[in-house]
Amino acid sequence: MKKLSIVANIKSYKNEVEAKEWLENFKKIKDLNLNPSDKEVIVCPSFTQLFSFHSFFSSNIITAYIGAQNVSPFEEGAYTGEVNAKQIKDFAKYVLIGHSERRKNFGETGDMLVNKVEVSLKYELVPIFLVQGKDTPIPDGVKLIAYEPVFAIGTGNPDTPPNANFVSKAIKSVRPDTRVLYGGSVTSVNVRSFTEQPDIDGVLVGGSSLDAEEFIGIVKNA
Ligand code: PGA
Repeated sequence: MKKLSIVANIKSYKNEVEAKEWLENFKKIKDLNLNPSDKEVIVCPSFTQLFSFHSFFSSNIITAYIGAQNVSPFEEGAYTGEVNAKQIKDFAKYVLIGHSERRKNFGETGDMLVNKVEVSLKYELVPIFLVQGKDTPIPDGVKLIAYEPVFAIGTGNPDTPPNANFVSKAIKSVRPDTRVLYGGSVTSVNVRSFTEQPDIDGVLVGGSSLDAEEFIGIVKNA
């Protein structure tokens, strides 16, 4: 059986009270008795919540990893407002790089994304590199990729599982050492139609991860 990675991208939504409520509800993930070598769960909260998620998972013995939603393209230094890989590494194992929302709204360019991947690898963070199509350039050193077509993000209009599989397969034919996830309007109802595809290694979930119980349903049904 292939290993699946199920990623929650909580985006820029929850304040402290809402995040605590999410964590309380997420405790039920323990009922699934997950083995991370079969199903690995990765939760990406906002920077302000990396610490609380990290300590909540360890004190409640929850088998899930933390990811950051972004990382500075620079190392530590005089970069006001940036959070760098060395800082993130204290709390997280993964980091999302190249999301279409960041490319579009924050002007992130290919060069900047290469820098982000390089600093992440230097500090032993695992980049989850998001591509919008099979021809999106992927920096060297990336091993985990998420294919997220822009039309499918937050629209309730996912890609078809066969096409998502076609794109994953095309990426792997050029980068055989990678695993590829699918993202875009994944729910507990449609998740299996993606994870049962031979070349899809998991899912990246935005909107449906905002409700912890729905996200647990996705993990369960994947
Ligand atoms: P969505 O978002 O699940 O709400 O479509 C996915 C993402 O942006 O990562």
